[in-house]
Amino acid sequence: MNQEKTTVLEHRVFQGDYRLLRVAAPIIGPQVKPGQFVHLRVPRLEQAVLRRPFSVFKADEEGLSILYATVGMGTEVLNSVESGEVIDLMGPLGTGFPTLGKDKTLPVLVAGGYGNAALYLQAKNLPIKGGAFFGGRTAQDILCVGEFEALGWDVRVTTDDGSLGTKGLVTAALDPWLAEQDLDAVELFSCGPNPMLKAVGDRALEKGFTAWLSMDRNMACGVGACLTCVIKRKTEAGWEWARCCKDGPVFNAEEILWED
Ligand SMILES: Cc1cc2nc3c(=O)[nH]c(=O)nc-3n(C[C@H](O)[C@H](O)[C@H](O)COP(=O)(O)OP(=O)(O)OC[C@H]3O[C@@H](n4cnc5c(N)ncnc54)[C@H](O)[C@@H]3O)c2cc1C
Ligand code: FES
Repeated sequence: MNQEKTTVLEHRVFQGDYRLLRVAAPIIGPQVKPGQFVHLRVPRLEQAVLRRPFSVFKADEEGLSILYATVGMGTEVLNSVESGEVIDLMGPLGTGFPTLGKDKTLPVLVAGGYGNAALYLQAKNLPIKGGAFFGGRTAQDILCVGEFEALGWDVRVTTDDGSLGTKGLVTAALDPWLAEQDLDAVELFSCGPNPMLKAVGDRALEKGFTAWLSMDRNMACGVGACLTCVIKRKTEAGWEWARCCKDGPVFNAEEILWED
């Protein structure tokens, strides 16, 4: 993990409520693995000193980019950052996604909202390209379909209002597709809202396939010290606390003890 003063190269509306922020990060950029995140100090956010976590969308030798939606004070102030400004980043953080566990496994991506961005590097790196299921409230929430298709993924889209793809939740497209697969040979990678992750995790446990879930929790320190981000992880004796920032954010669905 490094801390780096990065310079904003590009900051623009990407689609709907989502913005793309690209920074020059020659130290952090080349180290990023799929599914890892950066912890960003929002410039000029004097009322709140805490950093905000964002998955790395793309990264290379020179820099990295994130895709983010405005949901509160931090992201609202982040909106006003301009090219040439300096942003303090910590990263890359977290475990990230593993590569395929078995030869000849068919990878499947399931994403909602910024989950598409969090899965992009994984989609690029995996040696086999399978199905990609993207869900959102409206067409505006479905990001980067063309980019995943260009990598060779078979993308299926669902929206709550039917404005793009099949009307309904992402499971409306995933379930019939899973019913036709050899589930021993399926490995699933997922990032998105917690109810979606739980739905995916429940199916993995019920049907016996492997699923890796990138858990979204509010984070304060981002490096395992404050326990803001804990979830319950199953153990032989019962359960233990696991930190999403350091032990995750990616966990095997089998490990997670969901709370109501
Ligand atoms: C590992 C990880 C990766 C992430 N990657 C991305 C990304 O690539 N793009 C993106 O848009 N967002 C991402 N997020 C969520 C992002 O960190 C939050 O949206 C952001 O911190 C909100 O900051 P804020 O100050 O604007 O909102 P706050 O004022 O802190 O909160 C505003 C509202 O957002 C909710 N909120 C705050 N933090 C989170 C959170 N982590 N998850 C869900 N709701 C939250 C609050 O409960 C509140 O309702 C990620 C979160 C994690 C844990
Ligand atoms: S955010 Fe502090 S332990 Fe995870």
